[in-house]
Amino acid sequence: MFKLDRKLILSASVFTAAALFVAGCAAGGLGFSKSNSTSAQVSIDGGVFYPAVNGKTGPYVLDTKAAAMKLNQGRIPTANEIKAWDTDVMADGTGLPEGSGSASEGSDIYDSKCISCHGDFGSGGGGYPSLAKGNAYTLHASLLSQRSEEGADGPVRVFGTYWPQASTLWWYIKDAMPHQMTDSLTNDEVYALTAYILQLNEIKIDGVLVESDYVLDRKKFLKIVMPNVDGFEPNIAGPNSLPGVRAYFANPANYGGQKVKPAERCMKNCQAATVKTVRVANGGINAFVPPMAIARDLPKVESKEFNAAKSYEENCASCHATKSMGAPAIGDAKAWKAVSAKGMAAVYKNGIDGINGMPAKGGTNLSDAEFNLVVDYIVSLSK
Ligand code: HEC
Ligand code: HEC
Repeated sequence: MFKLDRKLILSASVFTAAALFVAGCAAGGLGFSKSNSTSAQVSIDGGVFYPAVNGKTGPYVLDTKAAAMKLNQGRIPTANEIKAWDTDVMADGTGLPEGSGSASEGSDIYDSKCISCHGDFGSGGGGYPSLAKGNAYTLHASLLSQRSEEGADGPVRVFGTYWPQASTLWWYIKDAMPHQMTDSLTNDEVYALTAYILQLNEIKIDGVLVESDYVLDRKKFLKIVMPNVDGFEPNIAGPNSLPGVRAYFANPANYGGQKVKPAERCMKNCQAATVKTVRVANGGINAFVPPMAIARDLPKVESKEFNAAKSYEENCASCHATKSMGAPAIGDAKAWKAVSAKGMAAVYKNGIDGINGMPAKGGTNLSDAEFNLVVDYIVSLSK
């Protein structure tokens, strides 16, 4: 977790440096640099300064200078760039690549990459959605019942019963699953997983029931007609019957909407210019104690063999890789000559205690000896 944070911050700072470069704007922008820090701000995990109140930091810092800055960066993306970013898969087959996979292959992939969250045979549970509950054609009828009274059956909303188009499933798996490693599946794997989930929902394609040996490909995929392709209208019996429900929802005032008659529904410029933009003055939010604590629970250094280069990458590079963070940059012989001129004992001590924008030991829990080794490493590469 700690390492991950570090990487995120690192890439954020690289990104910021790039953005500043594009904007043609030197130091001082966007609340990241040392010159922006005040005593009421602290740096967490390598460089970003957050406002601090009562020893706790808030996630936001508003830099009025940056907010007022006209960045004038970026350009209109080219048609090919948009094409590369556009991963949509549409019901008519737009965006759906060629490929194939069988339901049984899908079952194997499912058992290794999906079961941990979605359960045996897509049963779901533990907060993770079910992917199937049985025969989707039969269960589709359950959508009509809206649990109008206690104990009544509720609607079963899973992919098979509820999703009008199978293309959404293909795209969803390709784009968003497995949840912790998106975009990692090949097209063939996605076809196989789709076939397996269709099998669990007992879906027929062109009259053929999807079973383990069913091989799904693009051509067959485009023939899928989902049970809910035409949608459904809930059927609520009793006092809250369908006409009653319609009357209720016809008046937005019943559920917190504005009082407008349906005939007068507003389609453009509906919100008169009443939106106020609130800016927090420089210096941050004062009377607010944010939930994030400065105190950090860092993992102990595990390896006996201390690797100074690795430690530098993990703990110091976010600030020392370039000059832009206000720290003497690694490789900058002139800067490090000036630092070393104080005598290394003083330099180690400054680093260990922290000095100016340099947090004590760079914000790490390295031992003094380890920290000094990292300093030596930096100095050795800066001659
Ligand atoms: C780490 C947990 C995790 C893993 C592993 C995982 N998923 Fe999911 N999946 C989720 C969560 C959480 C959601 C709900 C996301 C949401 O609603 O925003 C979800 C939603 C889905 C949905 C949409 C269900 C619906 O009806 O809304 C599908 C389909 C799906 N996952 C398929 C898969 C497949 C196939 C795999 C394996 C390749 C997989 N998932 C692996 C966590 C996981
Ligand atoms: C949050 C950003 C940040 C991180 C992380 C960081 N440094 Fe620094 N470091 C600085 C800044 C800024 C300075 C310049 C301080 C100054 O102006 O006196 C500095 C200065 C130093 C100095 C010179 C001290 C002196 O006497 O002038 C040393 C040595 C040093 N850092 C070592 C390290 C090492 C080793 C690590 C990793 C374990 C590390 N730093 C991590 C920001 C950082």
